[in-house]
Amino acid sequence: MSRTLIAYYSRSGENYTPQGPVKSRIGNTAWTAQILEELTGADVFKIDMAQPYSEEYEECTRQAKYDRENAVLPELKNRPDPTELEGLETLFLCYPNYWNGLPMVVQTFLRGIKTKGVRILPLCTHGGDGIGFSEQEIAEICPNATLAPGLAVEGHLARGARQDVLIWLMQNGIAFQQPEE
Ligand SMILES: Cc1cc2nc3c(=O)[nH]c(=O)nc-3n(C[C@H](O)[C@H](O)[C@H](O)COP(=O)(O)O)c2cc1C
Repeated sequence: MSRTLIAYYSRSGENYTPQGPVKSRIGNTAWTAQILEELTGADVFKIDMAQPYSEEYEECTRQAKYDRENAVLPELKNRPDPTELEGLETLFLCYPNYWNGLPMVVQTFLRGIKTKGVRILPLCTHGGDGIGFSEQEIAEICPNATLAPGLAVEGHLARGARQDVLIWLMQNGIAFQQPEE
């Protein structure tokens, strides 16, 4: 069975934008996952932390830095259903840039699934640094997966990133449907 999954991690709460701090219930990366879902019709898995980071930005950056520096792999709130992953061919992996790399909980997720032969398409939202070294980290964790060139989306523009996502899908030969206006 050929399967495509969109897995994403996104944090609600305080984020920084060029206009200053903004609090939102829906995180930047969640918007990109929603755009992908609308365009591809693929199933979605939300990567959640069993103990989420703070909604307060500075505190969250401290927590994420600690986890990175100490190679902590935070526990997932929910594991994906193994039957949903059977025959997985394409994985859209959406995440925010954390300290220029993958959020550690995304590493937990990747280490917990079989990615041999899976085509991984990384989509990273960021605050100015682009995709950072997150692609190298994915390649290290998933040495037997095929990694497509990732898409970097500025976090505060994520909600309106449909056009960028569309072009990226076309560049990667992924079929999509245009939702009715
Ligand atoms: C813990 C933490 C670390 C971050 N580190 C970086 C960074 O190194 N470079 C960067 O460009 N943006 C960084 N950002 C900004 C986020 O990547 C950006 O706001 C992202 O869109 C947040 O996605 P989310 O709302 O889905 O969680 C960081 C944000 C947080 C919370």
